[in-house]
Amino acid sequence: MRWQDYDVIVIGAGAAGMMCAAQAGQRGRRVLLIDHAAQLAEKIRISGGGRCNFTNLRVTADNYLSRNPHFVRSALARYGSREFIELVDRHRIAWHEREHGQLFCDHSAQDIIDMLRSECADGGVDWAMPVTVERIERLPADTTSGAPRFRVHCATGTACCASLVIASGGLSIPKIGASPFGYRIAEQFGLPIVAPLPALVPLTLPPETLQRLSTLAGISLEVEASCAGGSFREAALVTHRGLSGPAILQISSYWQAQAYDGGARAPVTLDLLPGTDVHAWLQQHAHARSLLPNLLAERLPKRFAQAWCELHGWSRPLNQFRSAELDSVADTLQAWPLAPSGTQGYAKAEVTLGGVDTRALSSRTMEANACPGLYFVGEVMDVTGHLGGYNFQWAWSSGHAAGQFV
Ligand code: FDA
Repeated sequence: MRWQDYDVIVIGAGAAGMMCAAQAGQRGRRVLLIDHAAQLAEKIRISGGGRCNFTNLRVTADNYLSRNPHFVRSALARYGSREFIELVDRHRIAWHEREHGQLFCDHSAQDIIDMLRSECADGGVDWAMPVTVERIERLPADTTSGAPRFRVHCATGTACCASLVIASGGLSIPKIGASPFGYRIAEQFGLPIVAPLPALVPLTLPPETLQRLSTLAGISLEVEASCAGGSFREAALVTHRGLSGPAILQISSYWQAQAYDGGARAPVTLDLLPGTDVHAWLQQHAHARSLLPNLLAERLPKRFAQAWCELHGWSRPLNQFRSAELDSVADTLQAWPLAPSGTQGYAKAEVTLGGVDTRALSSRTMEANACPGLYFVGEVMDVTGHLGGYNFQWAWSSGHAAGQFV
């Protein structure tokens, strides 16, 4: 079978790919969207606990990690959360705001998938799914127009295009279709890759720490987690393998990003009593005969307070602490250092840190500087958002940006 030729072929029918295909199609481009998965947009479907945290009311470049931190500005400025909310409203999808400006569907993430599908239909987009792409070939430029030419070889046929968009996402959750396809294509065309790493991911702790904390699995508490310039005040959860919860997922990206700087990684520190002047509070009780764990249990889960004091050898009455020792307790409560042994990997990661190096791409169009006609959008690039709707917003913004130019 030989498919017809297209102006644009988009590989990956996830969030970014569908947005890009719809935009290009609605501009009158002939678009083919290819995906190897049997089910459309599984990541959208499972996102946000099935309700898809599709954007955030406050999106800035500071919500993203990248080796090229200014890269996101242009696309976010041209198509930000306001524009995406307008689209959602146009499709009469009911939504609500949760804490930290996060927006979720009232009913189901399927509403967002149906919306993108319908936008693609408006753009007359053709679909090839499930179809495996075997290889991509760059052909000589068109003799009359000078436009670049690519040929996409699939198990079921071939198709040519002038603009090839790679929207194949990152490596998280391999069992629903994640693949390193995008990185391979980048390498084929000589583009640099920032080594991919699991991010927004639970952290594991070394056995000696885990042993002391294992009875605490399931306990959740509000902390301020900090590491390598990032700081997040949210819930942390003790698990059988280490730590999870929103504060930990957020800080995991910063802990991981230290890998790019070489050298030893700084630990994650947890402020267990964020917003409290802990030194003053402990000094107020310096003469009390009650046990330190009992005092801490006024503000921390009781079992946690007990285990934490035992871990440090601090399960004594407060009046038995010297003043310098109480200062040290306060310091540790405000910055408890934990050196993770690793992460729970791509099976549990929400996103991938690293990816196609954005220094090799145009921030206006997402086109590869050294390979005209080749575009990368969404998570396949070295752009990683915080938890809270920022990753989908990057998929919409980058997909929209490329969709205007392909
Ligand atoms: P995405 O992964 O969506 O799509 C890539 C597509 O490419 C897939 O359809 C895949 O099948 C296809 N593909 C891959 N390899 C291919 C190949 N070789 N050939 C053909 N097709 C190929 N973000 C957020 O902002 N809010 C949220 O609520 C959540 N929730 C969430 C929950 C969970 C469990 C996960 C794992 C992730 C999230 N995220 C999130 C992150 C968000 O899902 C993610 O950042 C976006 O889906 C990225 O969009 P992309 O289109 O770039 O990739």
